[in-house]
Amino acid sequence: MKYLLILSVLFLGVSVSAQNTNKVETQIDKIISQLTLEEKVKMCHAQSKFSSAGVERLGIPEIWMSDGPHGVRAEIEWDSWSYAGWTNDSCTAFPALTCLASTFNPELSYKYGVAIGEEARYRKKDILLGPGVNIYRTPLNGRNFEYMGEDPYLASVMCVPYIKGVQANGVAACVKHYVLNNQEVWRNHINVKVSDRALHEIYLPAFKAAVEHGNVWSIMGAYNKYNGQYTSHHKVLINDILKGDWGFDGVVVTDWGSAHDTREAALNGLDIEMGTGTDGLTSSKDNAYDYYYLANPFLDLLKSGEIDESVVDDKVRRILRLMYRTNMDQTRPFGRKANRQHFDIAREIAQEGIVLLKNNKSFFPLNPETTQTIAVIGENATRMMTIGGGSSELKTVHEISPLEGITKRFTNANIIHAMGYSSGPSVYNRVIASDLDQDSLKQAAVEAAKKADIVLFVGGLNKNHEQDCENGDRKSLNLPFAQDELLNELMSVNKNVAVILVSGNAVAMPWQTKAKAIVQAWYLGSETGHAIADVLTGDVNPSGKLPMSFPVKLEDNGAHAFDELSYPGDGVDQVYKEDILVGYRWHDTKKIKPLYAFGYGLSYTTFKINSASVLKTKFNADEVVKMNVSISNTGTVDGAEVVQVYVNDTKSSVMRPVKELKAFKKVKLMAGETKTIELELPVNSFAFYDERIKSWNLEKGAYKLLIGTASNQIKKTITIDLQ
Ligand code: GLC
Repeated sequence: MKYLLILSVLFLGVSVSAQNTNKVETQIDKIISQLTLEEKVKMCHAQSKFSSAGVERLGIPEIWMSDGPHGVRAEIEWDSWSYAGWTNDSCTAFPALTCLASTFNPELSYKYGVAIGEEARYRKKDILLGPGVNIYRTPLNGRNFEYMGEDPYLASVMCVPYIKGVQANGVAACVKHYVLNNQEVWRNHINVKVSDRALHEIYLPAFKAAVEHGNVWSIMGAYNKYNGQYTSHHKVLINDILKGDWGFDGVVVTDWGSAHDTREAALNGLDIEMGTGTDGLTSSKDNAYDYYYLANPFLDLLKSGEIDESVVDDKVRRILRLMYRTNMDQTRPFGRKANRQHFDIAREIAQEGIVLLKNNKSFFPLNPETTQTIAVIGENATRMMTIGGGSSELKTVHEISPLEGITKRFTNANIIHAMGYSSGPSVYNRVIASDLDQDSLKQAAVEAAKKADIVLFVGGLNKNHEQDCENGDRKSLNLPFAQDELLNELMSVNKNVAVILVSGNAVAMPWQTKAKAIVQAWYLGSETGHAIADVLTGDVNPSGKLPMSFPVKLEDNGAHAFDELSYPGDGVDQVYKEDILVGYRWHDTKKIKPLYAFGYGLSYTTFKINSASVLKTKFNADEVVKMNVSISNTGTVDGAEVVQVYVNDTKSSVMRPVKELKAFKKVKLMAGETKTIELELPVNSFAFYDERIKSWNLEKGAYKLLIGTASNQIKKTITIDLQ
C-alpha cells in the first residue's frame, strides 16, 4: 500500500509539473494570439540600457536585467552607461568565479547562486547576467577572473549549481558569453576559427551543461565571430546546436552591442537585442531603440512577408516562458538585500578558494598572537578590487582589505604598511600611470622590510585596463608595476618574505625560489581581508586547487606556442592552433612542466591516497565506473583534499590529450581520519568528438584512470577495458 501511495504521489508530482508546463504553454499561446505585430517586435529588443518592453495593455511586465556574475551591479541610468546614483543598491560582493572554481566544491556553488539570486530578486531583476564560463585559453585574457578556468569538466560541474541557485529565486541566470570569447583584444569583431573537435570538447561543454543540467533560462551571445558569422546570431551555434541539439527552450540575448544584422538576428535565433547603438558604437542615442536591428527593420520585414510571423512568435514564446519563470510567477520568493548571511557565504567561498602554492618549512600558518613586526607591503593590500574590471564591478556594502583583515586579526603584532608601488587610477579603456614617485615608494618599502621580522607582500594584478579588466588583455605574463624588481629588493633585505597574489590570472614568478610562501588569493569580494587572515593564521586550513595552469613563461602556454594568428589574431581572423590541447592538456601532452599545475594546491596538513578500486574492469558504453578511493589525513590538523580522476585513452584513432579530468570530489578529513569515497565516471564521458562522423565517438579498448590530488600528482592508476 505504502509503495502504491508513493508511486501515485510521484505520478501526481510529475503530472502536476507536466500539467503546469502545458498550462503555461497554453497561456502563452493565448497571449500570442492577442498581441499585435508591433507589440511582439517591441519585446525583442531593449527599451532602455538594461530592460526590454512588456505589453502594458495586457499587463505583461517588462524584463529587467543586471550584471553581474559576482554581485548585483549598482543601478544604471535608463539610457546611458552612467550609474543612477541610488543609495539603496549596495550589494554583497562575492568572490570572483575563478575563486569559486578553485573551491572544487559544487555545494558552495549552489550557496553562491542562491545568495546572489536573492539579491538580484530583491533588486527586482528578472535576469542576472552571469555566470561566465568562457574557457581560460590564454593567461592574458582580461576577463579570465570572471570565468571558471581552463577545464571544460570543472567549468561544467561548477556552473550548474550556481545557475540552479540563482533560478531558485525566480531570477533567470544568463550563462555567457556564448561562445569562443576567450580574449578581450578585438573582442567586438575578431573571427575565431577552431576545429569542430575543439569547439565540442573544450569550448561548448560548460554551456551544454548549463542548458542540459542547469536548465538555464537565458544565454548571452558573445561579441566575436565564429567561422565568419557573429556568434550572437549564428545559425550553427544557436539554431543547430543550442536550440536544436541541446533543446534550449529559453531566451538568447545579445551582449551589449553584439547584434549586427536584422535578417541574421531574426532567422538565427536571437531573441532579445540589447545595447545596440545606432551610431555604430554601443552607446545609444535618444529614441535609438526603434532603430535596433530587431526593431523597425525587423517589423518591416515581417509586414512585407519576407519574414514569416512564426519567426517573431518563437521569440515571444521564449520571452513569455522566461516571464512565467520569473516576473509572472506569483509564487517566487521575495529576495533579500545584502545581509550578514551573504557576507558569511562570501567569506566561506573565499576561504575555500584561496590556493596555497608554496609553504616552506610551514612558514604559514602564523601565530595570530605573535608580537613580531609584520611588514605588509604592496598596493593590493589596500586597493579596492570590487570597482573597475568592467561590467562585473560592484558597489558593495563593504570591502575588507587585506591590510584591514590582517591588522584586525594579528592584534598583538606590530604591523607596518608600505605601499611599495602604485598602479594609477582605474579608468575604463585607458591606462593612466600613477603620479606617485615610484622610487620613494620602493625605498619606503625596503626600509619597512629591514625593520620587520616577516614581510607579507600583497601584490598581483588589479582591475585596471590591460590588467584583469574587460575590453583589454594583459601584455605580459609578469607582474606589472615593477613588482618583480621590488620583490627582489625586499628579499635581499629580509629572508622571510611571503607573497600573497590578489589576481585573476596566472603570473610569472622569477622570485619563486626566494619566496618563503606563496598564496594565490583571487578577487575575494566583500570579505577579502578576513578570508586572507583566516588562512594565514590557520583559522582555516586552505583547500583551494588551481583551476588553470601557471606556465613558467608565456610561450609554454598553448595559445602562445604558435604565431600571432593564434593569439591575438591578425586583427580580422584568429586560429586556435593548439586545438584541443588547452591548459594542462598542452603541458602534459607536450611535456612542458608548468610552474604550478591545474588542480594543484597545498594544505597545512598532509593527505595520502591509500587505494583506489573498481568493482570490475570490463565495461559497456552505457555503464558507469564506480570507483572507491581510500584517503587519509596523515597530518596534525583537520583539512580537505580534492580527489581528482583523469582519463587516458591508451590507444585511439586520433590524437588525444594524455589526460582529461572526468571526476573530482572534495573530502573533508579530521587529523588522522581515513575515509573511503565513491566517484562515478560515466564511460560515455570518455568519448572524443569525431569530426569524421560529426558526433561523439567512444572507441573500444583500454582506458587508464589516473587518480590523484593534482593533474601532476597522480598517485594510483586503474586500467579498465571498454568492450
Ligand atoms: C558587457 C559584457 C557583458 C555584460 C554586458 C552588460 O560588454 O561583455 O558581460 O553583461 O556588456 O554590461
